Amino acid sequence: MRNLQVNGERLWASLMELARIGATEKGGVCRLAASDLDGEARRLFIRWCAEAGCTVTVDRIGNIFARRPGRNPELPPIMTGSHLDTQPTGGRFDGAYGVMAGLEVVRTLNDLGYETEAPIEIVAWTNEEGSRFSPAMVGSGVFAGVFDLSYGLERPDNVTGASLGGELARIGFAGPEPVGGRPVAAYFEAHIEQGPILEAAGKPIGVVTGAQGQRWYEVTVTGQEAHAGPTPMPRRRDALVGAARMIDAVNRIGHAHAPYACATVGFVQVSPNSRNTIPGQVFFTIDFRHPEDAVLTAMDRELREACAAAAATQNLDVAVEEFWYFPPTPFNPALVNSVRAAAMAQDLPHQDIISGAGHDAVYMARIAPTAMVFVPCVGGISHNEIEDAKPEDLTAGCAVLLNAILDRADFAEPR
Ligand code: GLV
Ligand code: MN
Ligand code: MN
Repeated sequence: MRNLQVNGERLWASLMELARIGATEKGGVCRLAASDLDGEARRLFIRWCAEAGCTVTVDRIGNIFARRPGRNPELPPIMTGSHLDTQPTGGRFDGAYGVMAGLEVVRTLNDLGYETEAPIEIVAWTNEEGSRFSPAMVGSGVFAGVFDLSYGLERPDNVTGASLGGELARIGFAGPEPVGGRPVAAYFEAHIEQGPILEAAGKPIGVVTGAQGQRWYEVTVTGQEAHAGPTPMPRRRDALVGAARMIDAVNRIGHAHAPYACATVGFVQVSPNSRNTIPGQVFFTIDFRHPEDAVLTAMDRELREACAAAAATQNLDVAVEEFWYFPPTPFNPALVNSVRAAAMAQDLPHQDIISGAGHDAVYMARIAPTAMVFVPCVGGISHNEIEDAKPEDLTAGCAVLLNAILDRADFAEPR
């Protein structure tokens, strides 16, 4: 295991420059997928990659690949990266860190004149967040063959309905390359933890052994619009009252499967949203997560029962559609070992951890050996403008990424 260092100041400077694109007043970033700002961030990333001597390609779902050649061009690449899109109340590090850490790996190898055996590719995946266009991880999902290209391109903006494909074309990122269908020797992704575990343990490195499973739902509750004044309470079919009880049930289901279950309603639309009309329809989304598939299945059953019961009390119709699912995903033991060995080689305190968030690594794990490196984030806060991380932790995570990559890129033949 090699023990090379990266240039932490350069990594931090690139992160801060990138964070200016979509910067918010509270110190965060709002750079929604396939927006003008996403296009601007993509162009900056491409410029930096070209300056670092990489060959840049863009595929039809807008994924960007920056390739640093290896001694043996026949070998499949070692890939590393993450995403440049953010949540509406996003921070400076979620996604951006993994992409900039990949760039810093390449810049460091350039500084050292280090030629790897296998090529290295830095990737920026399209629409990881799943906020503007649902579901999440669309670019990596199409690359990994989980989604058809047409499904990916047709994803509608949650509010305006504009398609992801149309928006990518508009910002100049509907690329010419076919999506996926090529071998990847290994995929590594560096990311902030987005939770409180590493910070509480005082450990700068999380060796990510896998990611918990997720089930996403879309729920439509239908009642009847009626006048807020003349309609007596017993006659009402108030979709919002039903939805409120369902949303409360979602929260209870999360608590009932403590300590690991997570249950969130983050998107609600009320129709007609008029203050003196009883709501006739409510649409909302649910995000369930758990490291065990059996528990996710139990949560699914409880959700359906709770929604049916809440609808019955208000004389409503309810449709609960499972919109997206992936099972708990273990990462590749050999690559996880490379991450752990890289942390040990640097004397960095570390611990194994399961990812609470979804990541492009989850889909890459279906087609290539995959692992992740986590670093702590301040207060465990993410998907928030105040999201923060310590420069020294980001540097440590990037050095672990570099040496874990070298562990594979220098011995890329089967072994
Ligand atoms: C992606 O940010 C997720 O929701 O985990
Ligand atoms: Mn992310
Ligand atoms: Mn995120």
